[in-house]
Amino acid sequence: MMDKFVIRGGNPLLGTIKVSGAKNSALPCMAAAILTEDEVILENIPQVRDIETERKLLEAMGARVELGYGRAQHRTVIQCAVLSDPVAKYEIVKTMRASSLVLGPLIARTGMARVAMPGGCNIGGRPIDLHIKGLESMGATIAYDHGYLEARSPNEGKSPLRGAHIVFDKITVTGTEDLLMAAVLAEGETLFENCAREPEVTDLAALLIAMGAKIEGAGTSTIRVQGVSKLHGARHKINPDRIEAGTFLIAGAITGGDLKVDCCNPEHLGSLLGKLEDCGIKLDVGKDHIRVRSEGASGLKCADIATEEYPGFPTDMQAQYMALATQCDGTTTVTENIFENRFMHVQELNRMGANITVNGRTATVRGGTQLQSAAVMCSDLRASAALVLAALVADGESILDRVYHMDRGYEHLEEKLRGVGAQIRRMGEVFSKR
Ligand code: EPZ
Repeated sequence: MMDKFVIRGGNPLLGTIKVSGAKNSALPCMAAAILTEDEVILENIPQVRDIETERKLLEAMGARVELGYGRAQHRTVIQCAVLSDPVAKYEIVKTMRASSLVLGPLIARTGMARVAMPGGCNIGGRPIDLHIKGLESMGATIAYDHGYLEARSPNEGKSPLRGAHIVFDKITVTGTEDLLMAAVLAEGETLFENCAREPEVTDLAALLIAMGAKIEGAGTSTIRVQGVSKLHGARHKINPDRIEAGTFLIAGAITGGDLKVDCCNPEHLGSLLGKLEDCGIKLDVGKDHIRVRSEGASGLKCADIATEEYPGFPTDMQAQYMALATQCDGTTTVTENIFENRFMHVQELNRMGANITVNGRTATVRGGTQLQSAAVMCSDLRASAALVLAALVADGESILDRVYHMDRGYEHLEEKLRGVGAQIRRMGEVFSKR
């Protein structure tokens, strides 16, 4: 059965809510384990569907992956002593595009990788041409075979990749990560320019350095790597999830709550925090937590956003911010610059009584509307989060269909939200008496 969320709006969120580890850091860090025969121990791994998918992907290649349980439930031990089958099969890649992150490490470690080409997805075409172009400049040969991409390092896969000077035509997060993992075992120096500066890239680089890689400049647009011949095991703690933290901040604000978003890293949230303050939301920022207070719709003002690469406003917060904008006084302009089709949530928000029009890359939100409950459909991870936020302030009981999108990236969302006063359940459960 496809799970649904049933959400009754109207409760302010009060108390403390904890942020999990970042899915988008955990995915490349798990792929990095391919680079060594030794054990890689990752802490603060979120328990979400995409992590489970990556576990399957690695196991199918011959890796041993132990997900922790009990008190160690967020620890994962990965050992790729032997990679008997360096293939990422279509059955897995089609459910998770981030599977293409194994391309760089596989070819670096084994000299050969066979990875299914990802198709398009709900938010855009999402090609991986920049990953491929980068590998080619490092000496890889690429062939296409029945929907698969086959990459070999020089000399029929017998010699390592060669360091290169790679200037990204466009800033790409997983592209930077993928090629970084290829470069750490390449012969000589690789110089990357126009790199993604996202905290997830920095997190991956920290793990690679702990494994013995020589990397300088991660977190800036120029990264320099001196290749080494071998990497060893390491232990690494994954960053807190900045997008989950941002989603909770908006949940606190939109419901007129008083919420402490705990175990986050406010330094990664700069552009969002600035916008929330422009909206008239009160924030107390600590070292690892943020307290958000608001009066709800009555005190919210509009502030335009345009998504950009980090440190700009994250595309992964655009949908949730749009839900907030429906409650702000005045008209908010939301411009999506990263993906060409990331407005799937608009139709659903409008079905809940929002007044949003889209013209190309720009959405215009006429705010100050009382949202109404409705049956709505989740289309991707962050669009689902926007619908949850809208349902938390809507009048009455909303039903969100296809919450498997949500389960890909938000850990135990309904329990976390219930813990701070939201009325949310999966279809089949019974509302707990409060
Ligand atoms: C990462 O995707 C994230 N995924 C996405 O999170 C996030 O939305 C995105 O970065 C942007 O911040 C992971 O980290 C696993 P890109 P990624 O390559 O790396 C174009 C979520 O909800 N491009 O930075 O795939 C591309 O089409 C998700 O958690 C090329 O043209 O994004 C896009 O327009 C969804 N050629 C732009 O670059 C390439 O070879 C940025 O994409 C690669 C990308």
